[in-house]
Amino acid sequence: MKRRDFLGSLGAVGTAGMLSTPALLSSAGRAFAQGNDIPVGLLFSLTGAVAVVESTLHDAALMAIEEINASGGIHGRQLRPIIEDPASDPATYADRARRLMIRDKCVSVFGSYTSASRQAVLPVTEQRNNLYWYPTLYEGRECSRNVMYGGAVPNQQQDDLIPWAIENFGPRFYMIGNNYVYPKEENNYCKTLLKQYGGEVVNEEYVPLGHSDFSSVINRIRSEKPDVIFATVVGDSDVAFARQYHAAELDPSKMPVVSLTRSEVEVKAIGGEAAAGHFSSAPYFMGHATAENEKFVEAYKSRYGADQVTHFVSEAAYFQVYQFKAALEKLDPANITPETIRDAAVGLTLNAPQGEVLIDENLHTHLWPKIGQWQTNGQAEVLIESKERVAPKPYAAYPGQSCTGQGLVKA
Ligand code: ACM
Repeated sequence: MKRRDFLGSLGAVGTAGMLSTPALLSSAGRAFAQGNDIPVGLLFSLTGAVAVVESTLHDAALMAIEEINASGGIHGRQLRPIIEDPASDPATYADRARRLMIRDKCVSVFGSYTSASRQAVLPVTEQRNNLYWYPTLYEGRECSRNVMYGGAVPNQQQDDLIPWAIENFGPRFYMIGNNYVYPKEENNYCKTLLKQYGGEVVNEEYVPLGHSDFSSVINRIRSEKPDVIFATVVGDSDVAFARQYHAAELDPSKMPVVSLTRSEVEVKAIGGEAAAGHFSSAPYFMGHATAENEKFVEAYKSRYGADQVTHFVSEAAYFQVYQFKAALEKLDPANITPETIRDAAVGLTLNAPQGEVLIDENLHTHLWPKIGQWQTNGQAEVLIESKERVAPKPYAAYPGQSCTGQGLVKA
């Protein structure tokens, strides 16, 4: 079944279930749905500038929900996904999150790609004391007790990458990113590492989200001749940047793009030829040889099409639903609230497609960093793979501050 057909059929089920679900008061005195099913929100953009990546997070999370339901649900109850499309617009994310948490009484919401959208949802989630499962790599510097952070923070993507890039290509970095918090904070951490390893910044440039004309950026790169292009460009912008970089005949063996965001799904849109030779740092690549990954990739392809790809953010969108399941299984079915789910999730380990992941007391995830080089077939060859699972340090760029089980601590 193709994704759109699948969505259509689920939408109908969701509406019928919503109307018939009675609500009871939770121990915290708030109403959560306690009928035969467990309502969970899916808040991923299926339209707009980040849909190229975010629709695949939706697909992966939905697949996990359907797998769990097919194998009997949780405590014999089915998960009921309630789907919203915030259309890549931060204000709409906040509005739809409110709807999912208040009207639909979801005990958790799974959602979003950009930090702009996470930050839009954050005050709503904290105000309702709900739980937002965010699967995406992000900049850190956040320590909410209402967000389960499944993606990499800067130390998990950059600590191996930056010394490796300096050693293999040289010290002069050209930073290009979209103009919002995520690229700026990643660049901030990169500068710390460049200082430590003898690198330097030759330019730091930001373009608006959705920007698609990189001709002047490419002209500046051509004249500056940096050793490394350090890229934090997202969604459609990254696709445009990569295609234009290739069309300008800039050589990846001399000036590679080293990306924190480019995955199999962007590469599929870019085209294997144009992406080949450049690099990404990520905790998961589609070709990873584990039984869990083979199962994940096979299920994804058979559900959504043989030409579809999995990637490091869709993998996290998938495993976070299983972390949610594992947390609920530890709870008394009569006491399922966002807070009890969060507390049960801390310390959980799970065999994810990338390897065994662990939820830290700070609600971030211990992951397995890797560096891959893109090939013409759209897959990455993994060149470097961490021998150890790496702990998340959301405040690595801010000495004296750390995110703990008690929240943010300042020395
Ligand atoms: C991002 O905005 N966290 C990629």
